Amino acid sequence: MLYKESGRPQLHFSARRGWLNDPNGLVYADGLYHLFYQHNPYGRDWGNMHWGHAVSDDLLHWTEQEIALYPDEMGTMFSGSAVIDWHNTSGLQEGNEPPIILIYTAAGDSSPLSEGKPYTQCLAYRNAQGEWIKHEGNPVVPHIAGSNRDPKVIWHEPTRRWVMVLYMEGSDYAILVSPDLIQWRITCRLTMPGMDECPDLFQLPVDGDSTQAKWVFWACKKGGYQLGSFDGEVFIPEGELLFTVPDGANSYAAQTWSDIPASDGRVIQTTWAYKTSWPDMPFTGYMTFPCELSLVTAEEGIRMALAPVREIELIKRGQSSYGRRQLATGDDPIAHAAELMDVQLHWKPEPGSKLAIEANGAAIVYDAATEQLSCGPIIASLRVKPDGTVKLRTIIDRTSLETFGNEGILYMPVSIAPNPNHSGLRVYVNEGAGELLSMEVHELESIWNQQ
Ligand code: FRU
Repeated sequence: MLYKESGRPQLHFSARRGWLNDPNGLVYADGLYHLFYQHNPYGRDWGNMHWGHAVSDDLLHWTEQEIALYPDEMGTMFSGSAVIDWHNTSGLQEGNEPPIILIYTAAGDSSPLSEGKPYTQCLAYRNAQGEWIKHEGNPVVPHIAGSNRDPKVIWHEPTRRWVMVLYMEGSDYAILVSPDLIQWRITCRLTMPGMDECPDLFQLPVDGDSTQAKWVFWACKKGGYQLGSFDGEVFIPEGELLFTVPDGANSYAAQTWSDIPASDGRVIQTTWAYKTSWPDMPFTGYMTFPCELSLVTAEEGIRMALAPVREIELIKRGQSSYGRRQLATGDDPIAHAAELMDVQLHWKPEPGSKLAIEANGAAIVYDAATEQLSCGPIIASLRVKPDGTVKLRTIIDRTSLETFGNEGILYMPVSIAPNPNHSGLRVYVNEGAGELLSMEVHELESIWNQQ
């Protein structure tokens, strides 16, 4: 697909037309990443929820497929997840290949398609012809409370069972287990104050040491996550609820990818760039850049860090290095004329200084006085490290600036309005001074070029 629209993100997946929200059913199967998503094919606003579908062999270059799930007599198709049923526990396998199973929510929202119907969890599977077939025995989870929705299912090897984390209502979640994806039993209920919708549950090593792995209960809003332990039935929180994303940033409903091969070993997450639309475009919404998650021991304790997936190397086109130099107010900006870039810089601010990274008509500012990073009204705390420096990495797209602060402990994806008169990258100090220890700029190629 070669898109020519002036407001089309060039480094991020968006649907050809219509509305897109949560990533659903993220699963790697037969060498392809399958991305499903909440989708209204009939308009640019939320409604008539279907599961759209796209595939990629590198998490970057996507090919949109036929819609996978259409609304039916049980309601519209709300969020959920996907797994490969390697051992055919469900008995839904046809032919020789273990099936991809979608676990979705049939929803009772207020649209005419579903009004008055209960929220339930259902299965669909891919048959030998590659079609998405809804399971005859649906629903597999009945209406429980409020609007139980957004099931995220994982295989728990120690107990050799499926585990589902499910949103209930308010800030309440539940954990369910199943031997076969069909019969489910609740084993635990959890409250995540202030959180709602789209949970996730996964394990991450601490500082790369898998003998020190922790479980993470993910709770969607502001990238909320709770570290803890999990025995296959009950999640026990340790410490407080933490956040990766500041208020107002464009990230919501994150989900991790299922069935990434053990030899790869990554936990990869994709999120929805919450509430983003531009006039005159045939689509609304896009997905953030896929990120690899890790847990690191920071000054404050164990924290989650995000980094753009290494596949970004595939779209890098040349590198420019802007070596060590002093920067002070009034100096000429360091300028780099390009639209799509990956910028990594290491900054040693003098007290009270402000560094600006300006691109495509928007700016990110690091204020050393308050130790905050901002982009317009979006403000996040980012502490100067003990060695007196700050690290910033920004993926610059036509319609977003996605910043990773201090090795990704802060993740700040911000949508920006397309600006045809963009002037490329400009880095300068607009208060005080400091030392730029290094700055690398990689120009990036559009993900739509090769299709
Ligand atoms: C989150 C959400 C989910 C729901 C879906 C509906 O953005 O509200 O809770 O399943 O979107 O589109």
